[in-house]
Amino acid sequence: MKINVVLSPANVDELYFSGKTTVVVDVLRATTTIITALMNGAKEIVPVGSVEFAMKASSNMFGGQTLICGERNAKKIDGFNLGNSPLEFTNDVISGKSLVFFTTNGTKAIVKAKYSDEVIIASFLNISAVAKYLVELNKPFEILCAGKNNSFCLEDTVFAGKLIAEILTQTEDVELTDSGLASAAIAKTFGKNLKKMFAESEHGKFLIENGFEEDLKYCAKLNVTNDIPVYASNIIKMLPRQNGESKVPGSTTIS
Ligand code: MLT
Repeated sequence: MKINVVLSPANVDELYFSGKTTVVVDVLRATTTIITALMNGAKEIVPVGSVEFAMKASSNMFGGQTLICGERNAKKIDGFNLGNSPLEFTNDVISGKSLVFFTTNGTKAIVKAKYSDEVIIASFLNISAVAKYLVELNKPFEILCAGKNNSFCLEDTVFAGKLIAEILTQTEDVELTDSGLASAAIAKTFGKNLKKMFAESEHGKFLIENGFEEDLKYCAKLNVTNDIPVYASNIIKMLPRQNGESKVPGSTTIS
């Protein structure tokens, strides 16, 4: 299984992903928030690449059942219902709702990967479930780091390296590209204490300065869920579960 890490969305165009399996990660905070929203009962999430498109998409959706969510400079956008703090996405606020979601880097990366065969949404909250799923899938895949403003970011690269390390505990049948090897090495150096790594990262510091320190603690939680969101037909939903695990499409379970 060949694993490549795209260290910034700026390194590739949309067509790069066609026919591929892609894992998109923006641990601070978009993919952590998406996973949390679906865990807490959101019906579906529509990621969008611009604020204008978020407004347009939400006006075409079903009135009170749709919330428009997202951030600019980490803060809730004027006129939006929610921002991008995972702590806002509680069951009482979002249960049964469709969420139109715009974030500076995360949702743009997800939309960029739209031509992939399969787009998997990952964060530390579901890292082990994603590793297990990919080992079972047994196909080459890309890890797309959302990064920061089209540049490398530490926290998504550490996630990529830790996902690779977890896969290597389950199978030796792995071939890493140079960016895969580099991510694994970076995760060994910075991945031991996730809260500390977040606090040292550029975006982590920015979030702390803007009052989101609690979000960093939450985003560092490991394996809170076995659920795996996937992006298909413009919508993110959880993969159906079977025997407590997310099911690889087309696979059968022997009982
Ligand atoms: C992003 O998509 O750039 C981030 O999730 C920003 C944030 O922390 O709100």
